[in-house]
Amino acid sequence: MKQIVKAADMLEAVKEARNQGRSIGLVPTMGALHEGHLSLIERALGENDLVVVSLFVNPIQFNNKEDLEKYPRTLEADLKLITTLEGADSKVIAFAPTVEEMYPADDGCATEGSKPAIPQEQYHFGPVEEVMEGPRRPGHFNGVAVVVRRLFDLSLPTRAYFGEKDYQQIAIIRALLEQIKYPIELVACPIVRADDGLALSSRNMRLSPEARAIAPTIYATLEQAAEMAEYEEVDDVKEWVLDTLATFHEINPQPNGLRFEPEYFEIVDARTLQPIAEWSEAGDLGAVGCIAVWLDGVRLIDIVKF
Ligand code: PAF
Repeated sequence: MKQIVKAADMLEAVKEARNQGRSIGLVPTMGALHEGHLSLIERALGENDLVVVSLFVNPIQFNNKEDLEKYPRTLEADLKLITTLEGADSKVIAFAPTVEEMYPADDGCATEGSKPAIPQEQYHFGPVEEVMEGPRRPGHFNGVAVVVRRLFDLSLPTRAYFGEKDYQQIAIIRALLEQIKYPIELVACPIVRADDGLALSSRNMRLSPEARAIAPTIYATLEQAAEMAEYEEVDDVKEWVLDTLATFHEINPQPNGLRFEPEYFEIVDARTLQPIAEWSEAGDLGAVGCIAVWLDGVRLIDIVKF
């Protein structure tokens, strides 16, 4: 497996492959890899001649300094995990740039000790960014769009792979591709869950054992909501989910004041991400429920399809 740190070396490595007509799959990650990421890399390995896995904790997509500082950085373990995948040795390029490499100082040169520039690009994605994560994490999707476009420019992918856990992020990338008109196929991959149903996330490793033990309640509640959707109104399902999680600790007393604090639960059209008031309003892709919940100081997100 090839490991690259420099942006220029990254571009050089893929240019040759593209010139030879080989397909390239890009799996953008922020490291701290888990089975969910590995499933994306595996799929990319099956569908492309070459796979670029980027491992870069992108500072400009964090609107919370503490979240950025606490984000796990486990590069050595990540590289080892990738090599366990069949075909990875010969087909994967692991791209792990520094911040200075991704956002070089104004003169365009990343040199030792030079300060990274703050990218100035501003994207506007309209209604898909005005709901759920958008207003709650100002600047987040712009930061994602900036880094993903740079990764596109440096890895020249044929296909790019994203997990459905960050459901809104996929809609943003789709909108980005429409704007910049890059001929890249966006491949949305299903969530990988632990045996107890918790959606795999790099943030899960920050949960205390007590919090980890109750975290599967989030998806269990969403699954029940999907059943309720057969006979209940949209607003009633929404209220029930928020209420069930917010009062969980009253019915199941927890140590150290541990409790679920739902930030939002929205039932939206799966394509436009706009909230629906009636089930019949959902378009061709149906409806999806998206949730963000705080537990033990960790913000967890998940989705359920209706
Ligand atoms: O989903 C993520 O891990 C990040 O938002 C991404 C796409 C790697 C961009 O930094």
